[in-house]
Amino acid sequence: MTSSMALLDQLACSHTLSLQEYAQLVQEDDPEFLDALQRRAEAVRNKMYGNQVFIRGLVEVGNACRRNCLYCGIRRENRAVERYVLSLGDVMACCREGYDLGFRTFVLQGGEGMFSSRQVVEMVQSIRRHYPDCAITLSLGEYDREDFCRMREAGADRYLLRHETANEALYRRLHPAAMSFRHRMDNLRWLRELGFQVGCGFMVGAPFQQPEHLAEDLKFVEIFRPHMCGVGPFLPQKDTPLGTHPPGSAAMTCRMYALMRLMIPGLLIPATTALGSLVPGGRETGIRWGANVVMPNLSPLHQRKKYALYDHKLATGTESAQNLQDLRASMAAIGYEVTVARGDSLVEG
Ligand code: 5AD
Repeated sequence: MTSSMALLDQLACSHTLSLQEYAQLVQEDDPEFLDALQRRAEAVRNKMYGNQVFIRGLVEVGNACRRNCLYCGIRRENRAVERYVLSLGDVMACCREGYDLGFRTFVLQGGEGMFSSRQVVEMVQSIRRHYPDCAITLSLGEYDREDFCRMREAGADRYLLRHETANEALYRRLHPAAMSFRHRMDNLRWLRELGFQVGCGFMVGAPFQQPEHLAEDLKFVEIFRPHMCGVGPFLPQKDTPLGTHPPGSAAMTCRMYALMRLMIPGLLIPATTALGSLVPGGRETGIRWGANVVMPNLSPLHQRKKYALYDHKLATGTESAQNLQDLRASMAAIGYEVTVARGDSLVEG
């Protein structure tokens, strides 16, 4: 068996490993290995992106989700959620506030299937007109290829659609039968073909997840080569069918950031809200393990609590776009600088 240290060299040089080798690196518990992984990932991160941390203004456009994912707090059958949908005017007000705060990327994120493609196109066109210098990212779930095509033509630059898990059997255990793993994977390919900068992503420590499943996620990311990859720990939400399962681990989440950084040096990797919600200073730790993006919340304050994908989700403090100064200070404390640049991915293609 090749030593884990040697596999790190291989990953950093050739940017590919076998499934078994990824599984070995997922499970290696030698502290020296983990220390080397962190240092190398941070060095690659800094070589590619300097000490810069990109910020995205996250607008949670609504929680009226039509999906019923077994782990998610805003699943359709969760009656405890008070539903909301922002109007076009609300969305534009969030963008105005964000623009004035310095944001040059807006991420419109919301429950799946809430908006027709016509409504999405209207939002995109409106933001495009008012803010031609900003990147527009959508994160609104699955659509048909033609819908994505219209959104792209309207001026959307990026699309985030987490694959959730690259293992089809695990996908089926976490989602109702009506949801198709294939359709989601097809969506990701269409988005890429249509010229979006594409983000996929997965949860760490999801119920029933084994180390081998994380190895499959890494292999999928290697082969699909997204521009971005969002990874956060699973966090239970008490009103969901999986609400009694234990949370995923912050350390394993950071390990995924580092392995992905070595695998695809130019990848955009957000230090996620879920990581920040799980442990104090989680996002800062994520940056030190190779992440280079944070997505502060720009949603209207009175709606924020309702976008509870999991319990104890951060929505205030440095998580809040309004407190950019605090975020700047907390990043400066670990040697990093928040930048308002659009922050396009260095992953080509
Ligand atoms: N814990 C962590 N992440 C979650 N998501 C949904 N529910 C949870 C949860 N309980 C993530 C999923 C989804 C994104 C919107 O949030 O990966 O794609």
